[in-house]
Amino acid sequence: MNRTIIAGIGSYVPDNVVTNEELTQFMDTSDQWIQERTGIKERRYARRFEETTATIGAAAARVAMERAGVTAADIDFVIFATLSPDYFFPGCGVLVQRLLGLKDVGALDVRNQCSGFLYGLSVADQFIKTGMYRNILLIGAEVHSYAMDFSTRGRNVSVIFGDGAGAVILQSSQDKERGILSTHLHSDGSEAEVLSMPNPGFHSGVHRPEWKPPVPEQKYGGVFITQDLLDKEDFYPYMDGQAVFKKAVIKLPEVIQEALGANNYTPADLQLMIPHQANLRIAQFVQQTLKLRDDQVFNNIQKYGNTTAASIPLALCEAWENGRVKEKDLVCLAAFGSGFTWGSALLKW
Ligand code: UT7
Repeated sequence: MNRTIIAGIGSYVPDNVVTNEELTQFMDTSDQWIQERTGIKERRYARRFEETTATIGAAAARVAMERAGVTAADIDFVIFATLSPDYFFPGCGVLVQRLLGLKDVGALDVRNQCSGFLYGLSVADQFIKTGMYRNILLIGAEVHSYAMDFSTRGRNVSVIFGDGAGAVILQSSQDKERGILSTHLHSDGSEAEVLSMPNPGFHSGVHRPEWKPPVPEQKYGGVFITQDLLDKEDFYPYMDGQAVFKKAVIKLPEVIQEALGANNYTPADLQLMIPHQANLRIAQFVQQTLKLRDDQVFNNIQKYGNTTAASIPLALCEAWENGRVKEKDLVCLAAFGSGFTWGSALLKW
C-alpha cells in the first residue's frame, strides 16, 4: 500500500499585527494577564473587505503547491478545515477551487474546529492509501477577527484567537521509510456547548432550552436570527476556558501516547511534537506530562494566538522553514478543541 507524504507545506498570515496592548483599547485586559495565562504576545487580523478565510487559505495553498512542485492541474481533491467559513454555505472548499483555478475535483469541508486539520489529514490519508487520489490539497484557515466580542464580556475568547492559514500537499509515495504512520480521531459531544458558537444557527433552542428564541408570529422561518438574539448580541463564540483547559491537558497526552503506542514508539523517540496552539500553558503541560525536551516541541502561539484549524500547519510550516524537521524525522501532531473533538497523527517526515 502507498504511503501519504507531505510533499509541500505553506502558510499565510495577514500583515496586520495586533499586540496585547492594542486590545486594552477595547476591553478590560492587560498585556501581563494575556502573556501569563496564554503565552500570547501578538496575533494577526485579516484586512477587512479584502481578506477572508478562503483567500488566505488559497494564499497558503499557493506556497504549498509551489514547494511540492505541483500545479492546479495536479490537484485531485481539496479538503478545507475551518470554523470561520466565508459563507454559511457553500463551504470554503469550492471557493478555493475557484480561486486557484483547480479542475472540477471534489471539495470537502471539515467542521472540526481545533482538530479540523487532523481530521482532514486522516481523511486525505485514507483516500491516498487506497489509491483513489494522488495529490490532495489540505488547508486549515481561520478569520476569527471578524466575529468576536471585543467588549470586556468576550475578553476570555477575543484575546486568544487570531487569523492565519496553513496548507499541505499530501502525495502518494512508494517510500516505506516516510509518510503518515497512523491517525487517531475522537469525539465526545456530551459538552458540545462548552466551546461553541450556537447562534445564528438552525437549532431553535432544542439542545439547550435556555437559548430558545421567542416564538415568532409566523408559522415558518424566523428562528434563525431573531430580534431578541440581536438585542442580546448573542451571536459570538462562547468558551468555558477552564473546562476546556482541564480536558485538553488530559486528552492531548492520551492521544499522543495512543499514536506512539500504535507504532511501538515512546515519547523519547520523537524528533518533534506539535500540539494545537491553544494556550502555551496547555502545550507546556503536555510537554511535562510526556517528559519531552524543549527541542522536541515547537510552539509559535506567542506570535499568532490560537488560529484553530490553521494552528498545526502554521506551526509545522514554521518548524520546517527553521530546519526543526528533517526528512525521516518522527513527528507527532495533536489537537483538542470544540466538540469536544481531538486527535493525533504520527508521521515520518
Ligand atoms: O483552541 C480551542 C481550545 N481552547 C482552549 O484550549 C482554551 C483553554 N482555556 C484557556 O486557555 C484558559 O482557560 C483561558 C486563557 C481562556 C482563561 O484563562 P484562565 O486562567 O482559565 O482564566 P479564567 O477563565 O479562570 O478567569 C480568571 C479571571 C476571571 O476573573 P475573576 O472572576 O477571577 O475576577 C476572568 O474574568 O480572569 C478574568 N479574565 C481576564 N482578565 C483580563 C478572563 N479573560 C481575561 C482577559 N483579561 N482577557
